[in-house]
Amino acid sequence: MAIDYAERIPNNVNLADNRRLQRALESWQPKFQDWWMEMGPEGFQANEIYLRTAVSVDSDGWAHFDFVKMPEYRWGIFLAEPEADRAVNFGQHMGDPAWQEVPGEYRGMLRRIIVTQGDTEPASVEQQRQLGRTSPSLYDLRNLFQVNVEEGRHLWAMVYLLDAHFGRDGREEAEALLMRRSGDADKPRILGAFNEATPDWLSFYMFTYFTDRDGRFQLASLAESGFDPLSRTCRFMLTEEAHHMFVGETGVGRVAQRSCELMNEHDTDDLRPHGGIDLAILQKYINFHFSVSLDLFGGELSTNAANYFTSGLKGRFREIQIDDDHVLSDGTYRVIEPAQNAFTETDAPALTSLNERLRDAYIADCQRGLDRWNKVIAQHDIDFTFALPHRAFHRAIGLFSGLRISPAGEVVTQDEWDRRVDDWLPSDQDRAYVRSLMEPVTSPGLMANWIAAPARGINGQPIEFEYTKL
Ligand SMILES: [Fe+2]
Ligand SMILES: [Fe+2]
Repeated sequence: MAIDYAERIPNNVNLADNRRLQRALESWQPKFQDWWMEMGPEGFQANEIYLRTAVSVDSDGWAHFDFVKMPEYRWGIFLAEPEADRAVNFGQHMGDPAWQEVPGEYRGMLRRIIVTQGDTEPASVEQQRQLGRTSPSLYDLRNLFQVNVEEGRHLWAMVYLLDAHFGRDGREEAEALLMRRSGDADKPRILGAFNEATPDWLSFYMFTYFTDRDGRFQLASLAESGFDPLSRTCRFMLTEEAHHMFVGETGVGRVAQRSCELMNEHDTDDLRPHGGIDLAILQKYINFHFSVSLDLFGGELSTNAANYFTSGLKGRFREIQIDDDHVLSDGTYRVIEPAQNAFTETDAPALTSLNERLRDAYIADCQRGLDRWNKVIAQHDIDFTFALPHRAFHRAIGLFSGLRISPAGEVVTQDEWDRRVDDWLPSDQDRAYVRSLMEPVTSPGLMANWIAAPARGINGQPIEFEYTKL
């Protein structure tokens, strides 16, 4: 199943054999291009960027690196190889052959799942469209654009499913995905975190660490789907997604490293006079992006989540590795709930607590990056550790929404919240300061003062490689 680049739309789904689908996608393609020119990275559409393009879906050696202008990037449709004799692996249809067509009774649910995932892809491109003007290095600029073109490709991946399997409704949804706008009051993107601004590069690294990681867990759950085309689509998207989280993890790590260097050099933890970002500000950004991303998993107890699972549409993280009946009709799961100025753990039905279970897996995975960042701080002999805030902190969705909880997990009064919120979340002043540092650095190999150089370049190239030709 090689990818055919001779086609107008590169693909490994034999698009040429399906004229109806080919026509639908070819009529969507120019609308996508228009959207990219209007809402894609501002100011760099004519520049040559060192980007990777998928040339196969093999786990090793799937990418080709070369200079390309973003509007000429070959967005295409790539599904992971089919697994022979794949079955529905959970829910009430467990053991049936995996579906190649949408089961009629689940059409509405499945469309909603695909549209919700698809909507996040162009949203993040829109959120990040101004960042190119202030990038801390050509290396980072290239990474931003790599993430952007791949989010564009993820949109293609979801639009393919809509056009291939949902007829006229699917085509309408595909158009609507290009009409909504991140942060727009009248036609916002579907999920909250995708309407937040990404105003500076620190926010970008935090977003790719925390919010792209939500994407990873959602995609991993959808990769378990009994609807085989969705599973195969998501499996290949996960391959690309790994780089996005690498950008986030190494980005925050490099900022922390530079802060430590400046602290030791000047023997102070107040880095403003030295053009660095205080570790305390980094912690506040962590608090913000982690809490906003937790909301993306939805309510702790959710009948939607239960229905998605029972129907065989959306599994758990690494479903087939879990040792249970994969039906969950009488299992339980430990859920933390608010109770009278504190929290309590209850055994909730496993089926309705699937969102919380996925959130738990996500939290554990987030902690791993913090551990690595903390190691960087310790290597500099600095007495400071990053911590994830309590899951109830700053939540807008689920059982904790509307409560006032400190990052340490204490219930606080509204007064106390108001008094201390600037210690817990980035204040206007913090954000203005971080913004003030955002001056573009455009000489190959040079880095802005507030961030350390990466450990290595991209695709074996040196750090001083000219990743973006300005
Ligand atoms: Fe994506
Ligand atoms: Fe991503």
